[in-house]
Amino acid sequence: MPGKWIKVVELDGFQKTYKYVHRRKEVALFKLDDGVYALDNSCSHEYSPLCEGMIVDGDVYCPKHGSRFDVRTGAVKDYPATRPVASYPVKVEDGVVYVKI
Ligand code: FES
Repeated sequence: MPGKWIKVVELDGFQKTYKYVHRRKEVALFKLDDGVYALDNSCSHEYSPLCEGMIVDGDVYCPKHGSRFDVRTGAVKDYPATRPVASYPVKVEDGVVYVKI
């Protein structure tokens, strides 16, 4: 499905993470040194909110059991999760973050 660009938040409107809800889908934004990335906010293990996780070297650690995901791709890098989380395209225009959902 192609998706549609959704205006989410101003780039200066959050520090490291931001949770956005679109039609009951929660998306977590992560601000890294090289840009902003968007993942499904729900951990693929037991659905904890990844936007509350710790970010280290471009990876987010799930706050519940510590699974590690690549913020840029959603790939799993450490257990107990075994499945990736969805990632979404992000663009920043005129200081505003858009996510293609
Ligand atoms: S809910 Fe995320 S690692 Fe268990």
